[in-house]
Amino acid sequence: MRLLVTGGAGFIGSNFVHQTVRERPDVRVTVLDALTYAGDEASLAPVAEQITFVRGDVADAELVDRLVADADVVVHFAAESHNDNSLSEPWPFVQTNVIGTYTLLEAVRRHGTRYHHISTDEVYGDLELDDPAKFTPETPYNPSSPYSSTKAASDLLVRAWVRSFGVQATISNCSNNYGPYQHVEKFIPRQITNVVDGIRPKLYGTGENVRDWIHVEDHNSAVWAILERGRTGETYLIGADGEENNKAVVELILELTGQPRDAYDLVSDRPGHDMRYAIDSTKLRTELGWTPRYGSFRDGLAATIEWYRANEAWWRPQKDATEAKYAQLGR
Ligand SMILES: NC(=O)c1ccc[n+]([C@@H]2O[C@H](COP(=O)([O-])OP(=O)(O)OC[C@H]3O[C@@H](n4cnc5c(N)ncnc54)[C@H](O)[C@@H]3O)[C@@H](O)[C@H]2O)c1
Repeated sequence: MRLLVTGGAGFIGSNFVHQTVRERPDVRVTVLDALTYAGDEASLAPVAEQITFVRGDVADAELVDRLVADADVVVHFAAESHNDNSLSEPWPFVQTNVIGTYTLLEAVRRHGTRYHHISTDEVYGDLELDDPAKFTPETPYNPSSPYSSTKAASDLLVRAWVRSFGVQATISNCSNNYGPYQHVEKFIPRQITNVVDGIRPKLYGTGENVRDWIHVEDHNSAVWAILERGRTGETYLIGADGEENNKAVVELILELTGQPRDAYDLVSDRPGHDMRYAIDSTKLRTELGWTPRYGSFRDGLAATIEWYRANEAWWRPQKDATEAKYAQLGR
């Protein structure tokens, strides 16, 4: 199989490439990545000899057409992915998430290529804390931020290209990921690296917001299950029943790093901050037989903390600039 992975130098994409090289030696991987501030070729260093890396933009129609012509399957991870950035500068989100997806869809349509679209549960908006409901594939779209609205727009383009043009596509909407190679701007790596640097972790608002955490390896094994057994035109929700509020996550990071559990600061909240996400992954589990390998959030988090401790050279170059950006926001 000739596999084109967009955004393969980012957090989830690089883990997907590592997993694919490790477990599927018959797959020939090409990565297309623009190496924005969020992409890092160093994340692919351990597999550099086994893959082809192309630096370029998913909205570059000519380049995308050439790469898609040479692929059997496309998995599209590339995106602007950080909510806080989308509030200060929305345009790159429209350009990459919407125009970039459109560009890929036109190319897979021309070449008849199988396409899998990586998306987020944030397209569904949020749930109340006391609501027992979870997101299902039937939940109406109700995105809150420029990030989630551009991801929602891209999902709808995929659905329309399936219906109107018969594109062979699937979509997955996953909950919040954690694990190695995640940019230090994101909640869990930011707090881990703050503790390493002797800075008190920062909690938005009151810290009650709930996220449904899944280890990145579990997200990626689900993507493979969809590539191998998913039905064209279908949407699969990926989640591992990992609901935790942000306060509990920070307290656990502090505990696992030998700090007092209350050694954090409350900072101003993100405008429009979604309250709770929760995924019902029944369809993925029953139809495709997928199960997560990481049973315990605590163990997965402990392993992630160890990874950040052992790989300071990977994250250190980003840390100061990231904290300077947060300082401007007062967060
Ligand atoms: N992180 C999460 O918890 C999460 C959860 C569900 C879904 N997702 C989705 O998974 C995908 C990957 O997320 P991530 O957390 O790995 O993001 P990330 O920000 O770590 O990585 C994004 C990658 O895309 C590349 N990129 C950005 N714009 C590009 C462009 N125009 N052309 C080519 N490459 C470009 C970047 O250089 C980077 O390598 C996204 O589509 C995101 O919406 C993320």
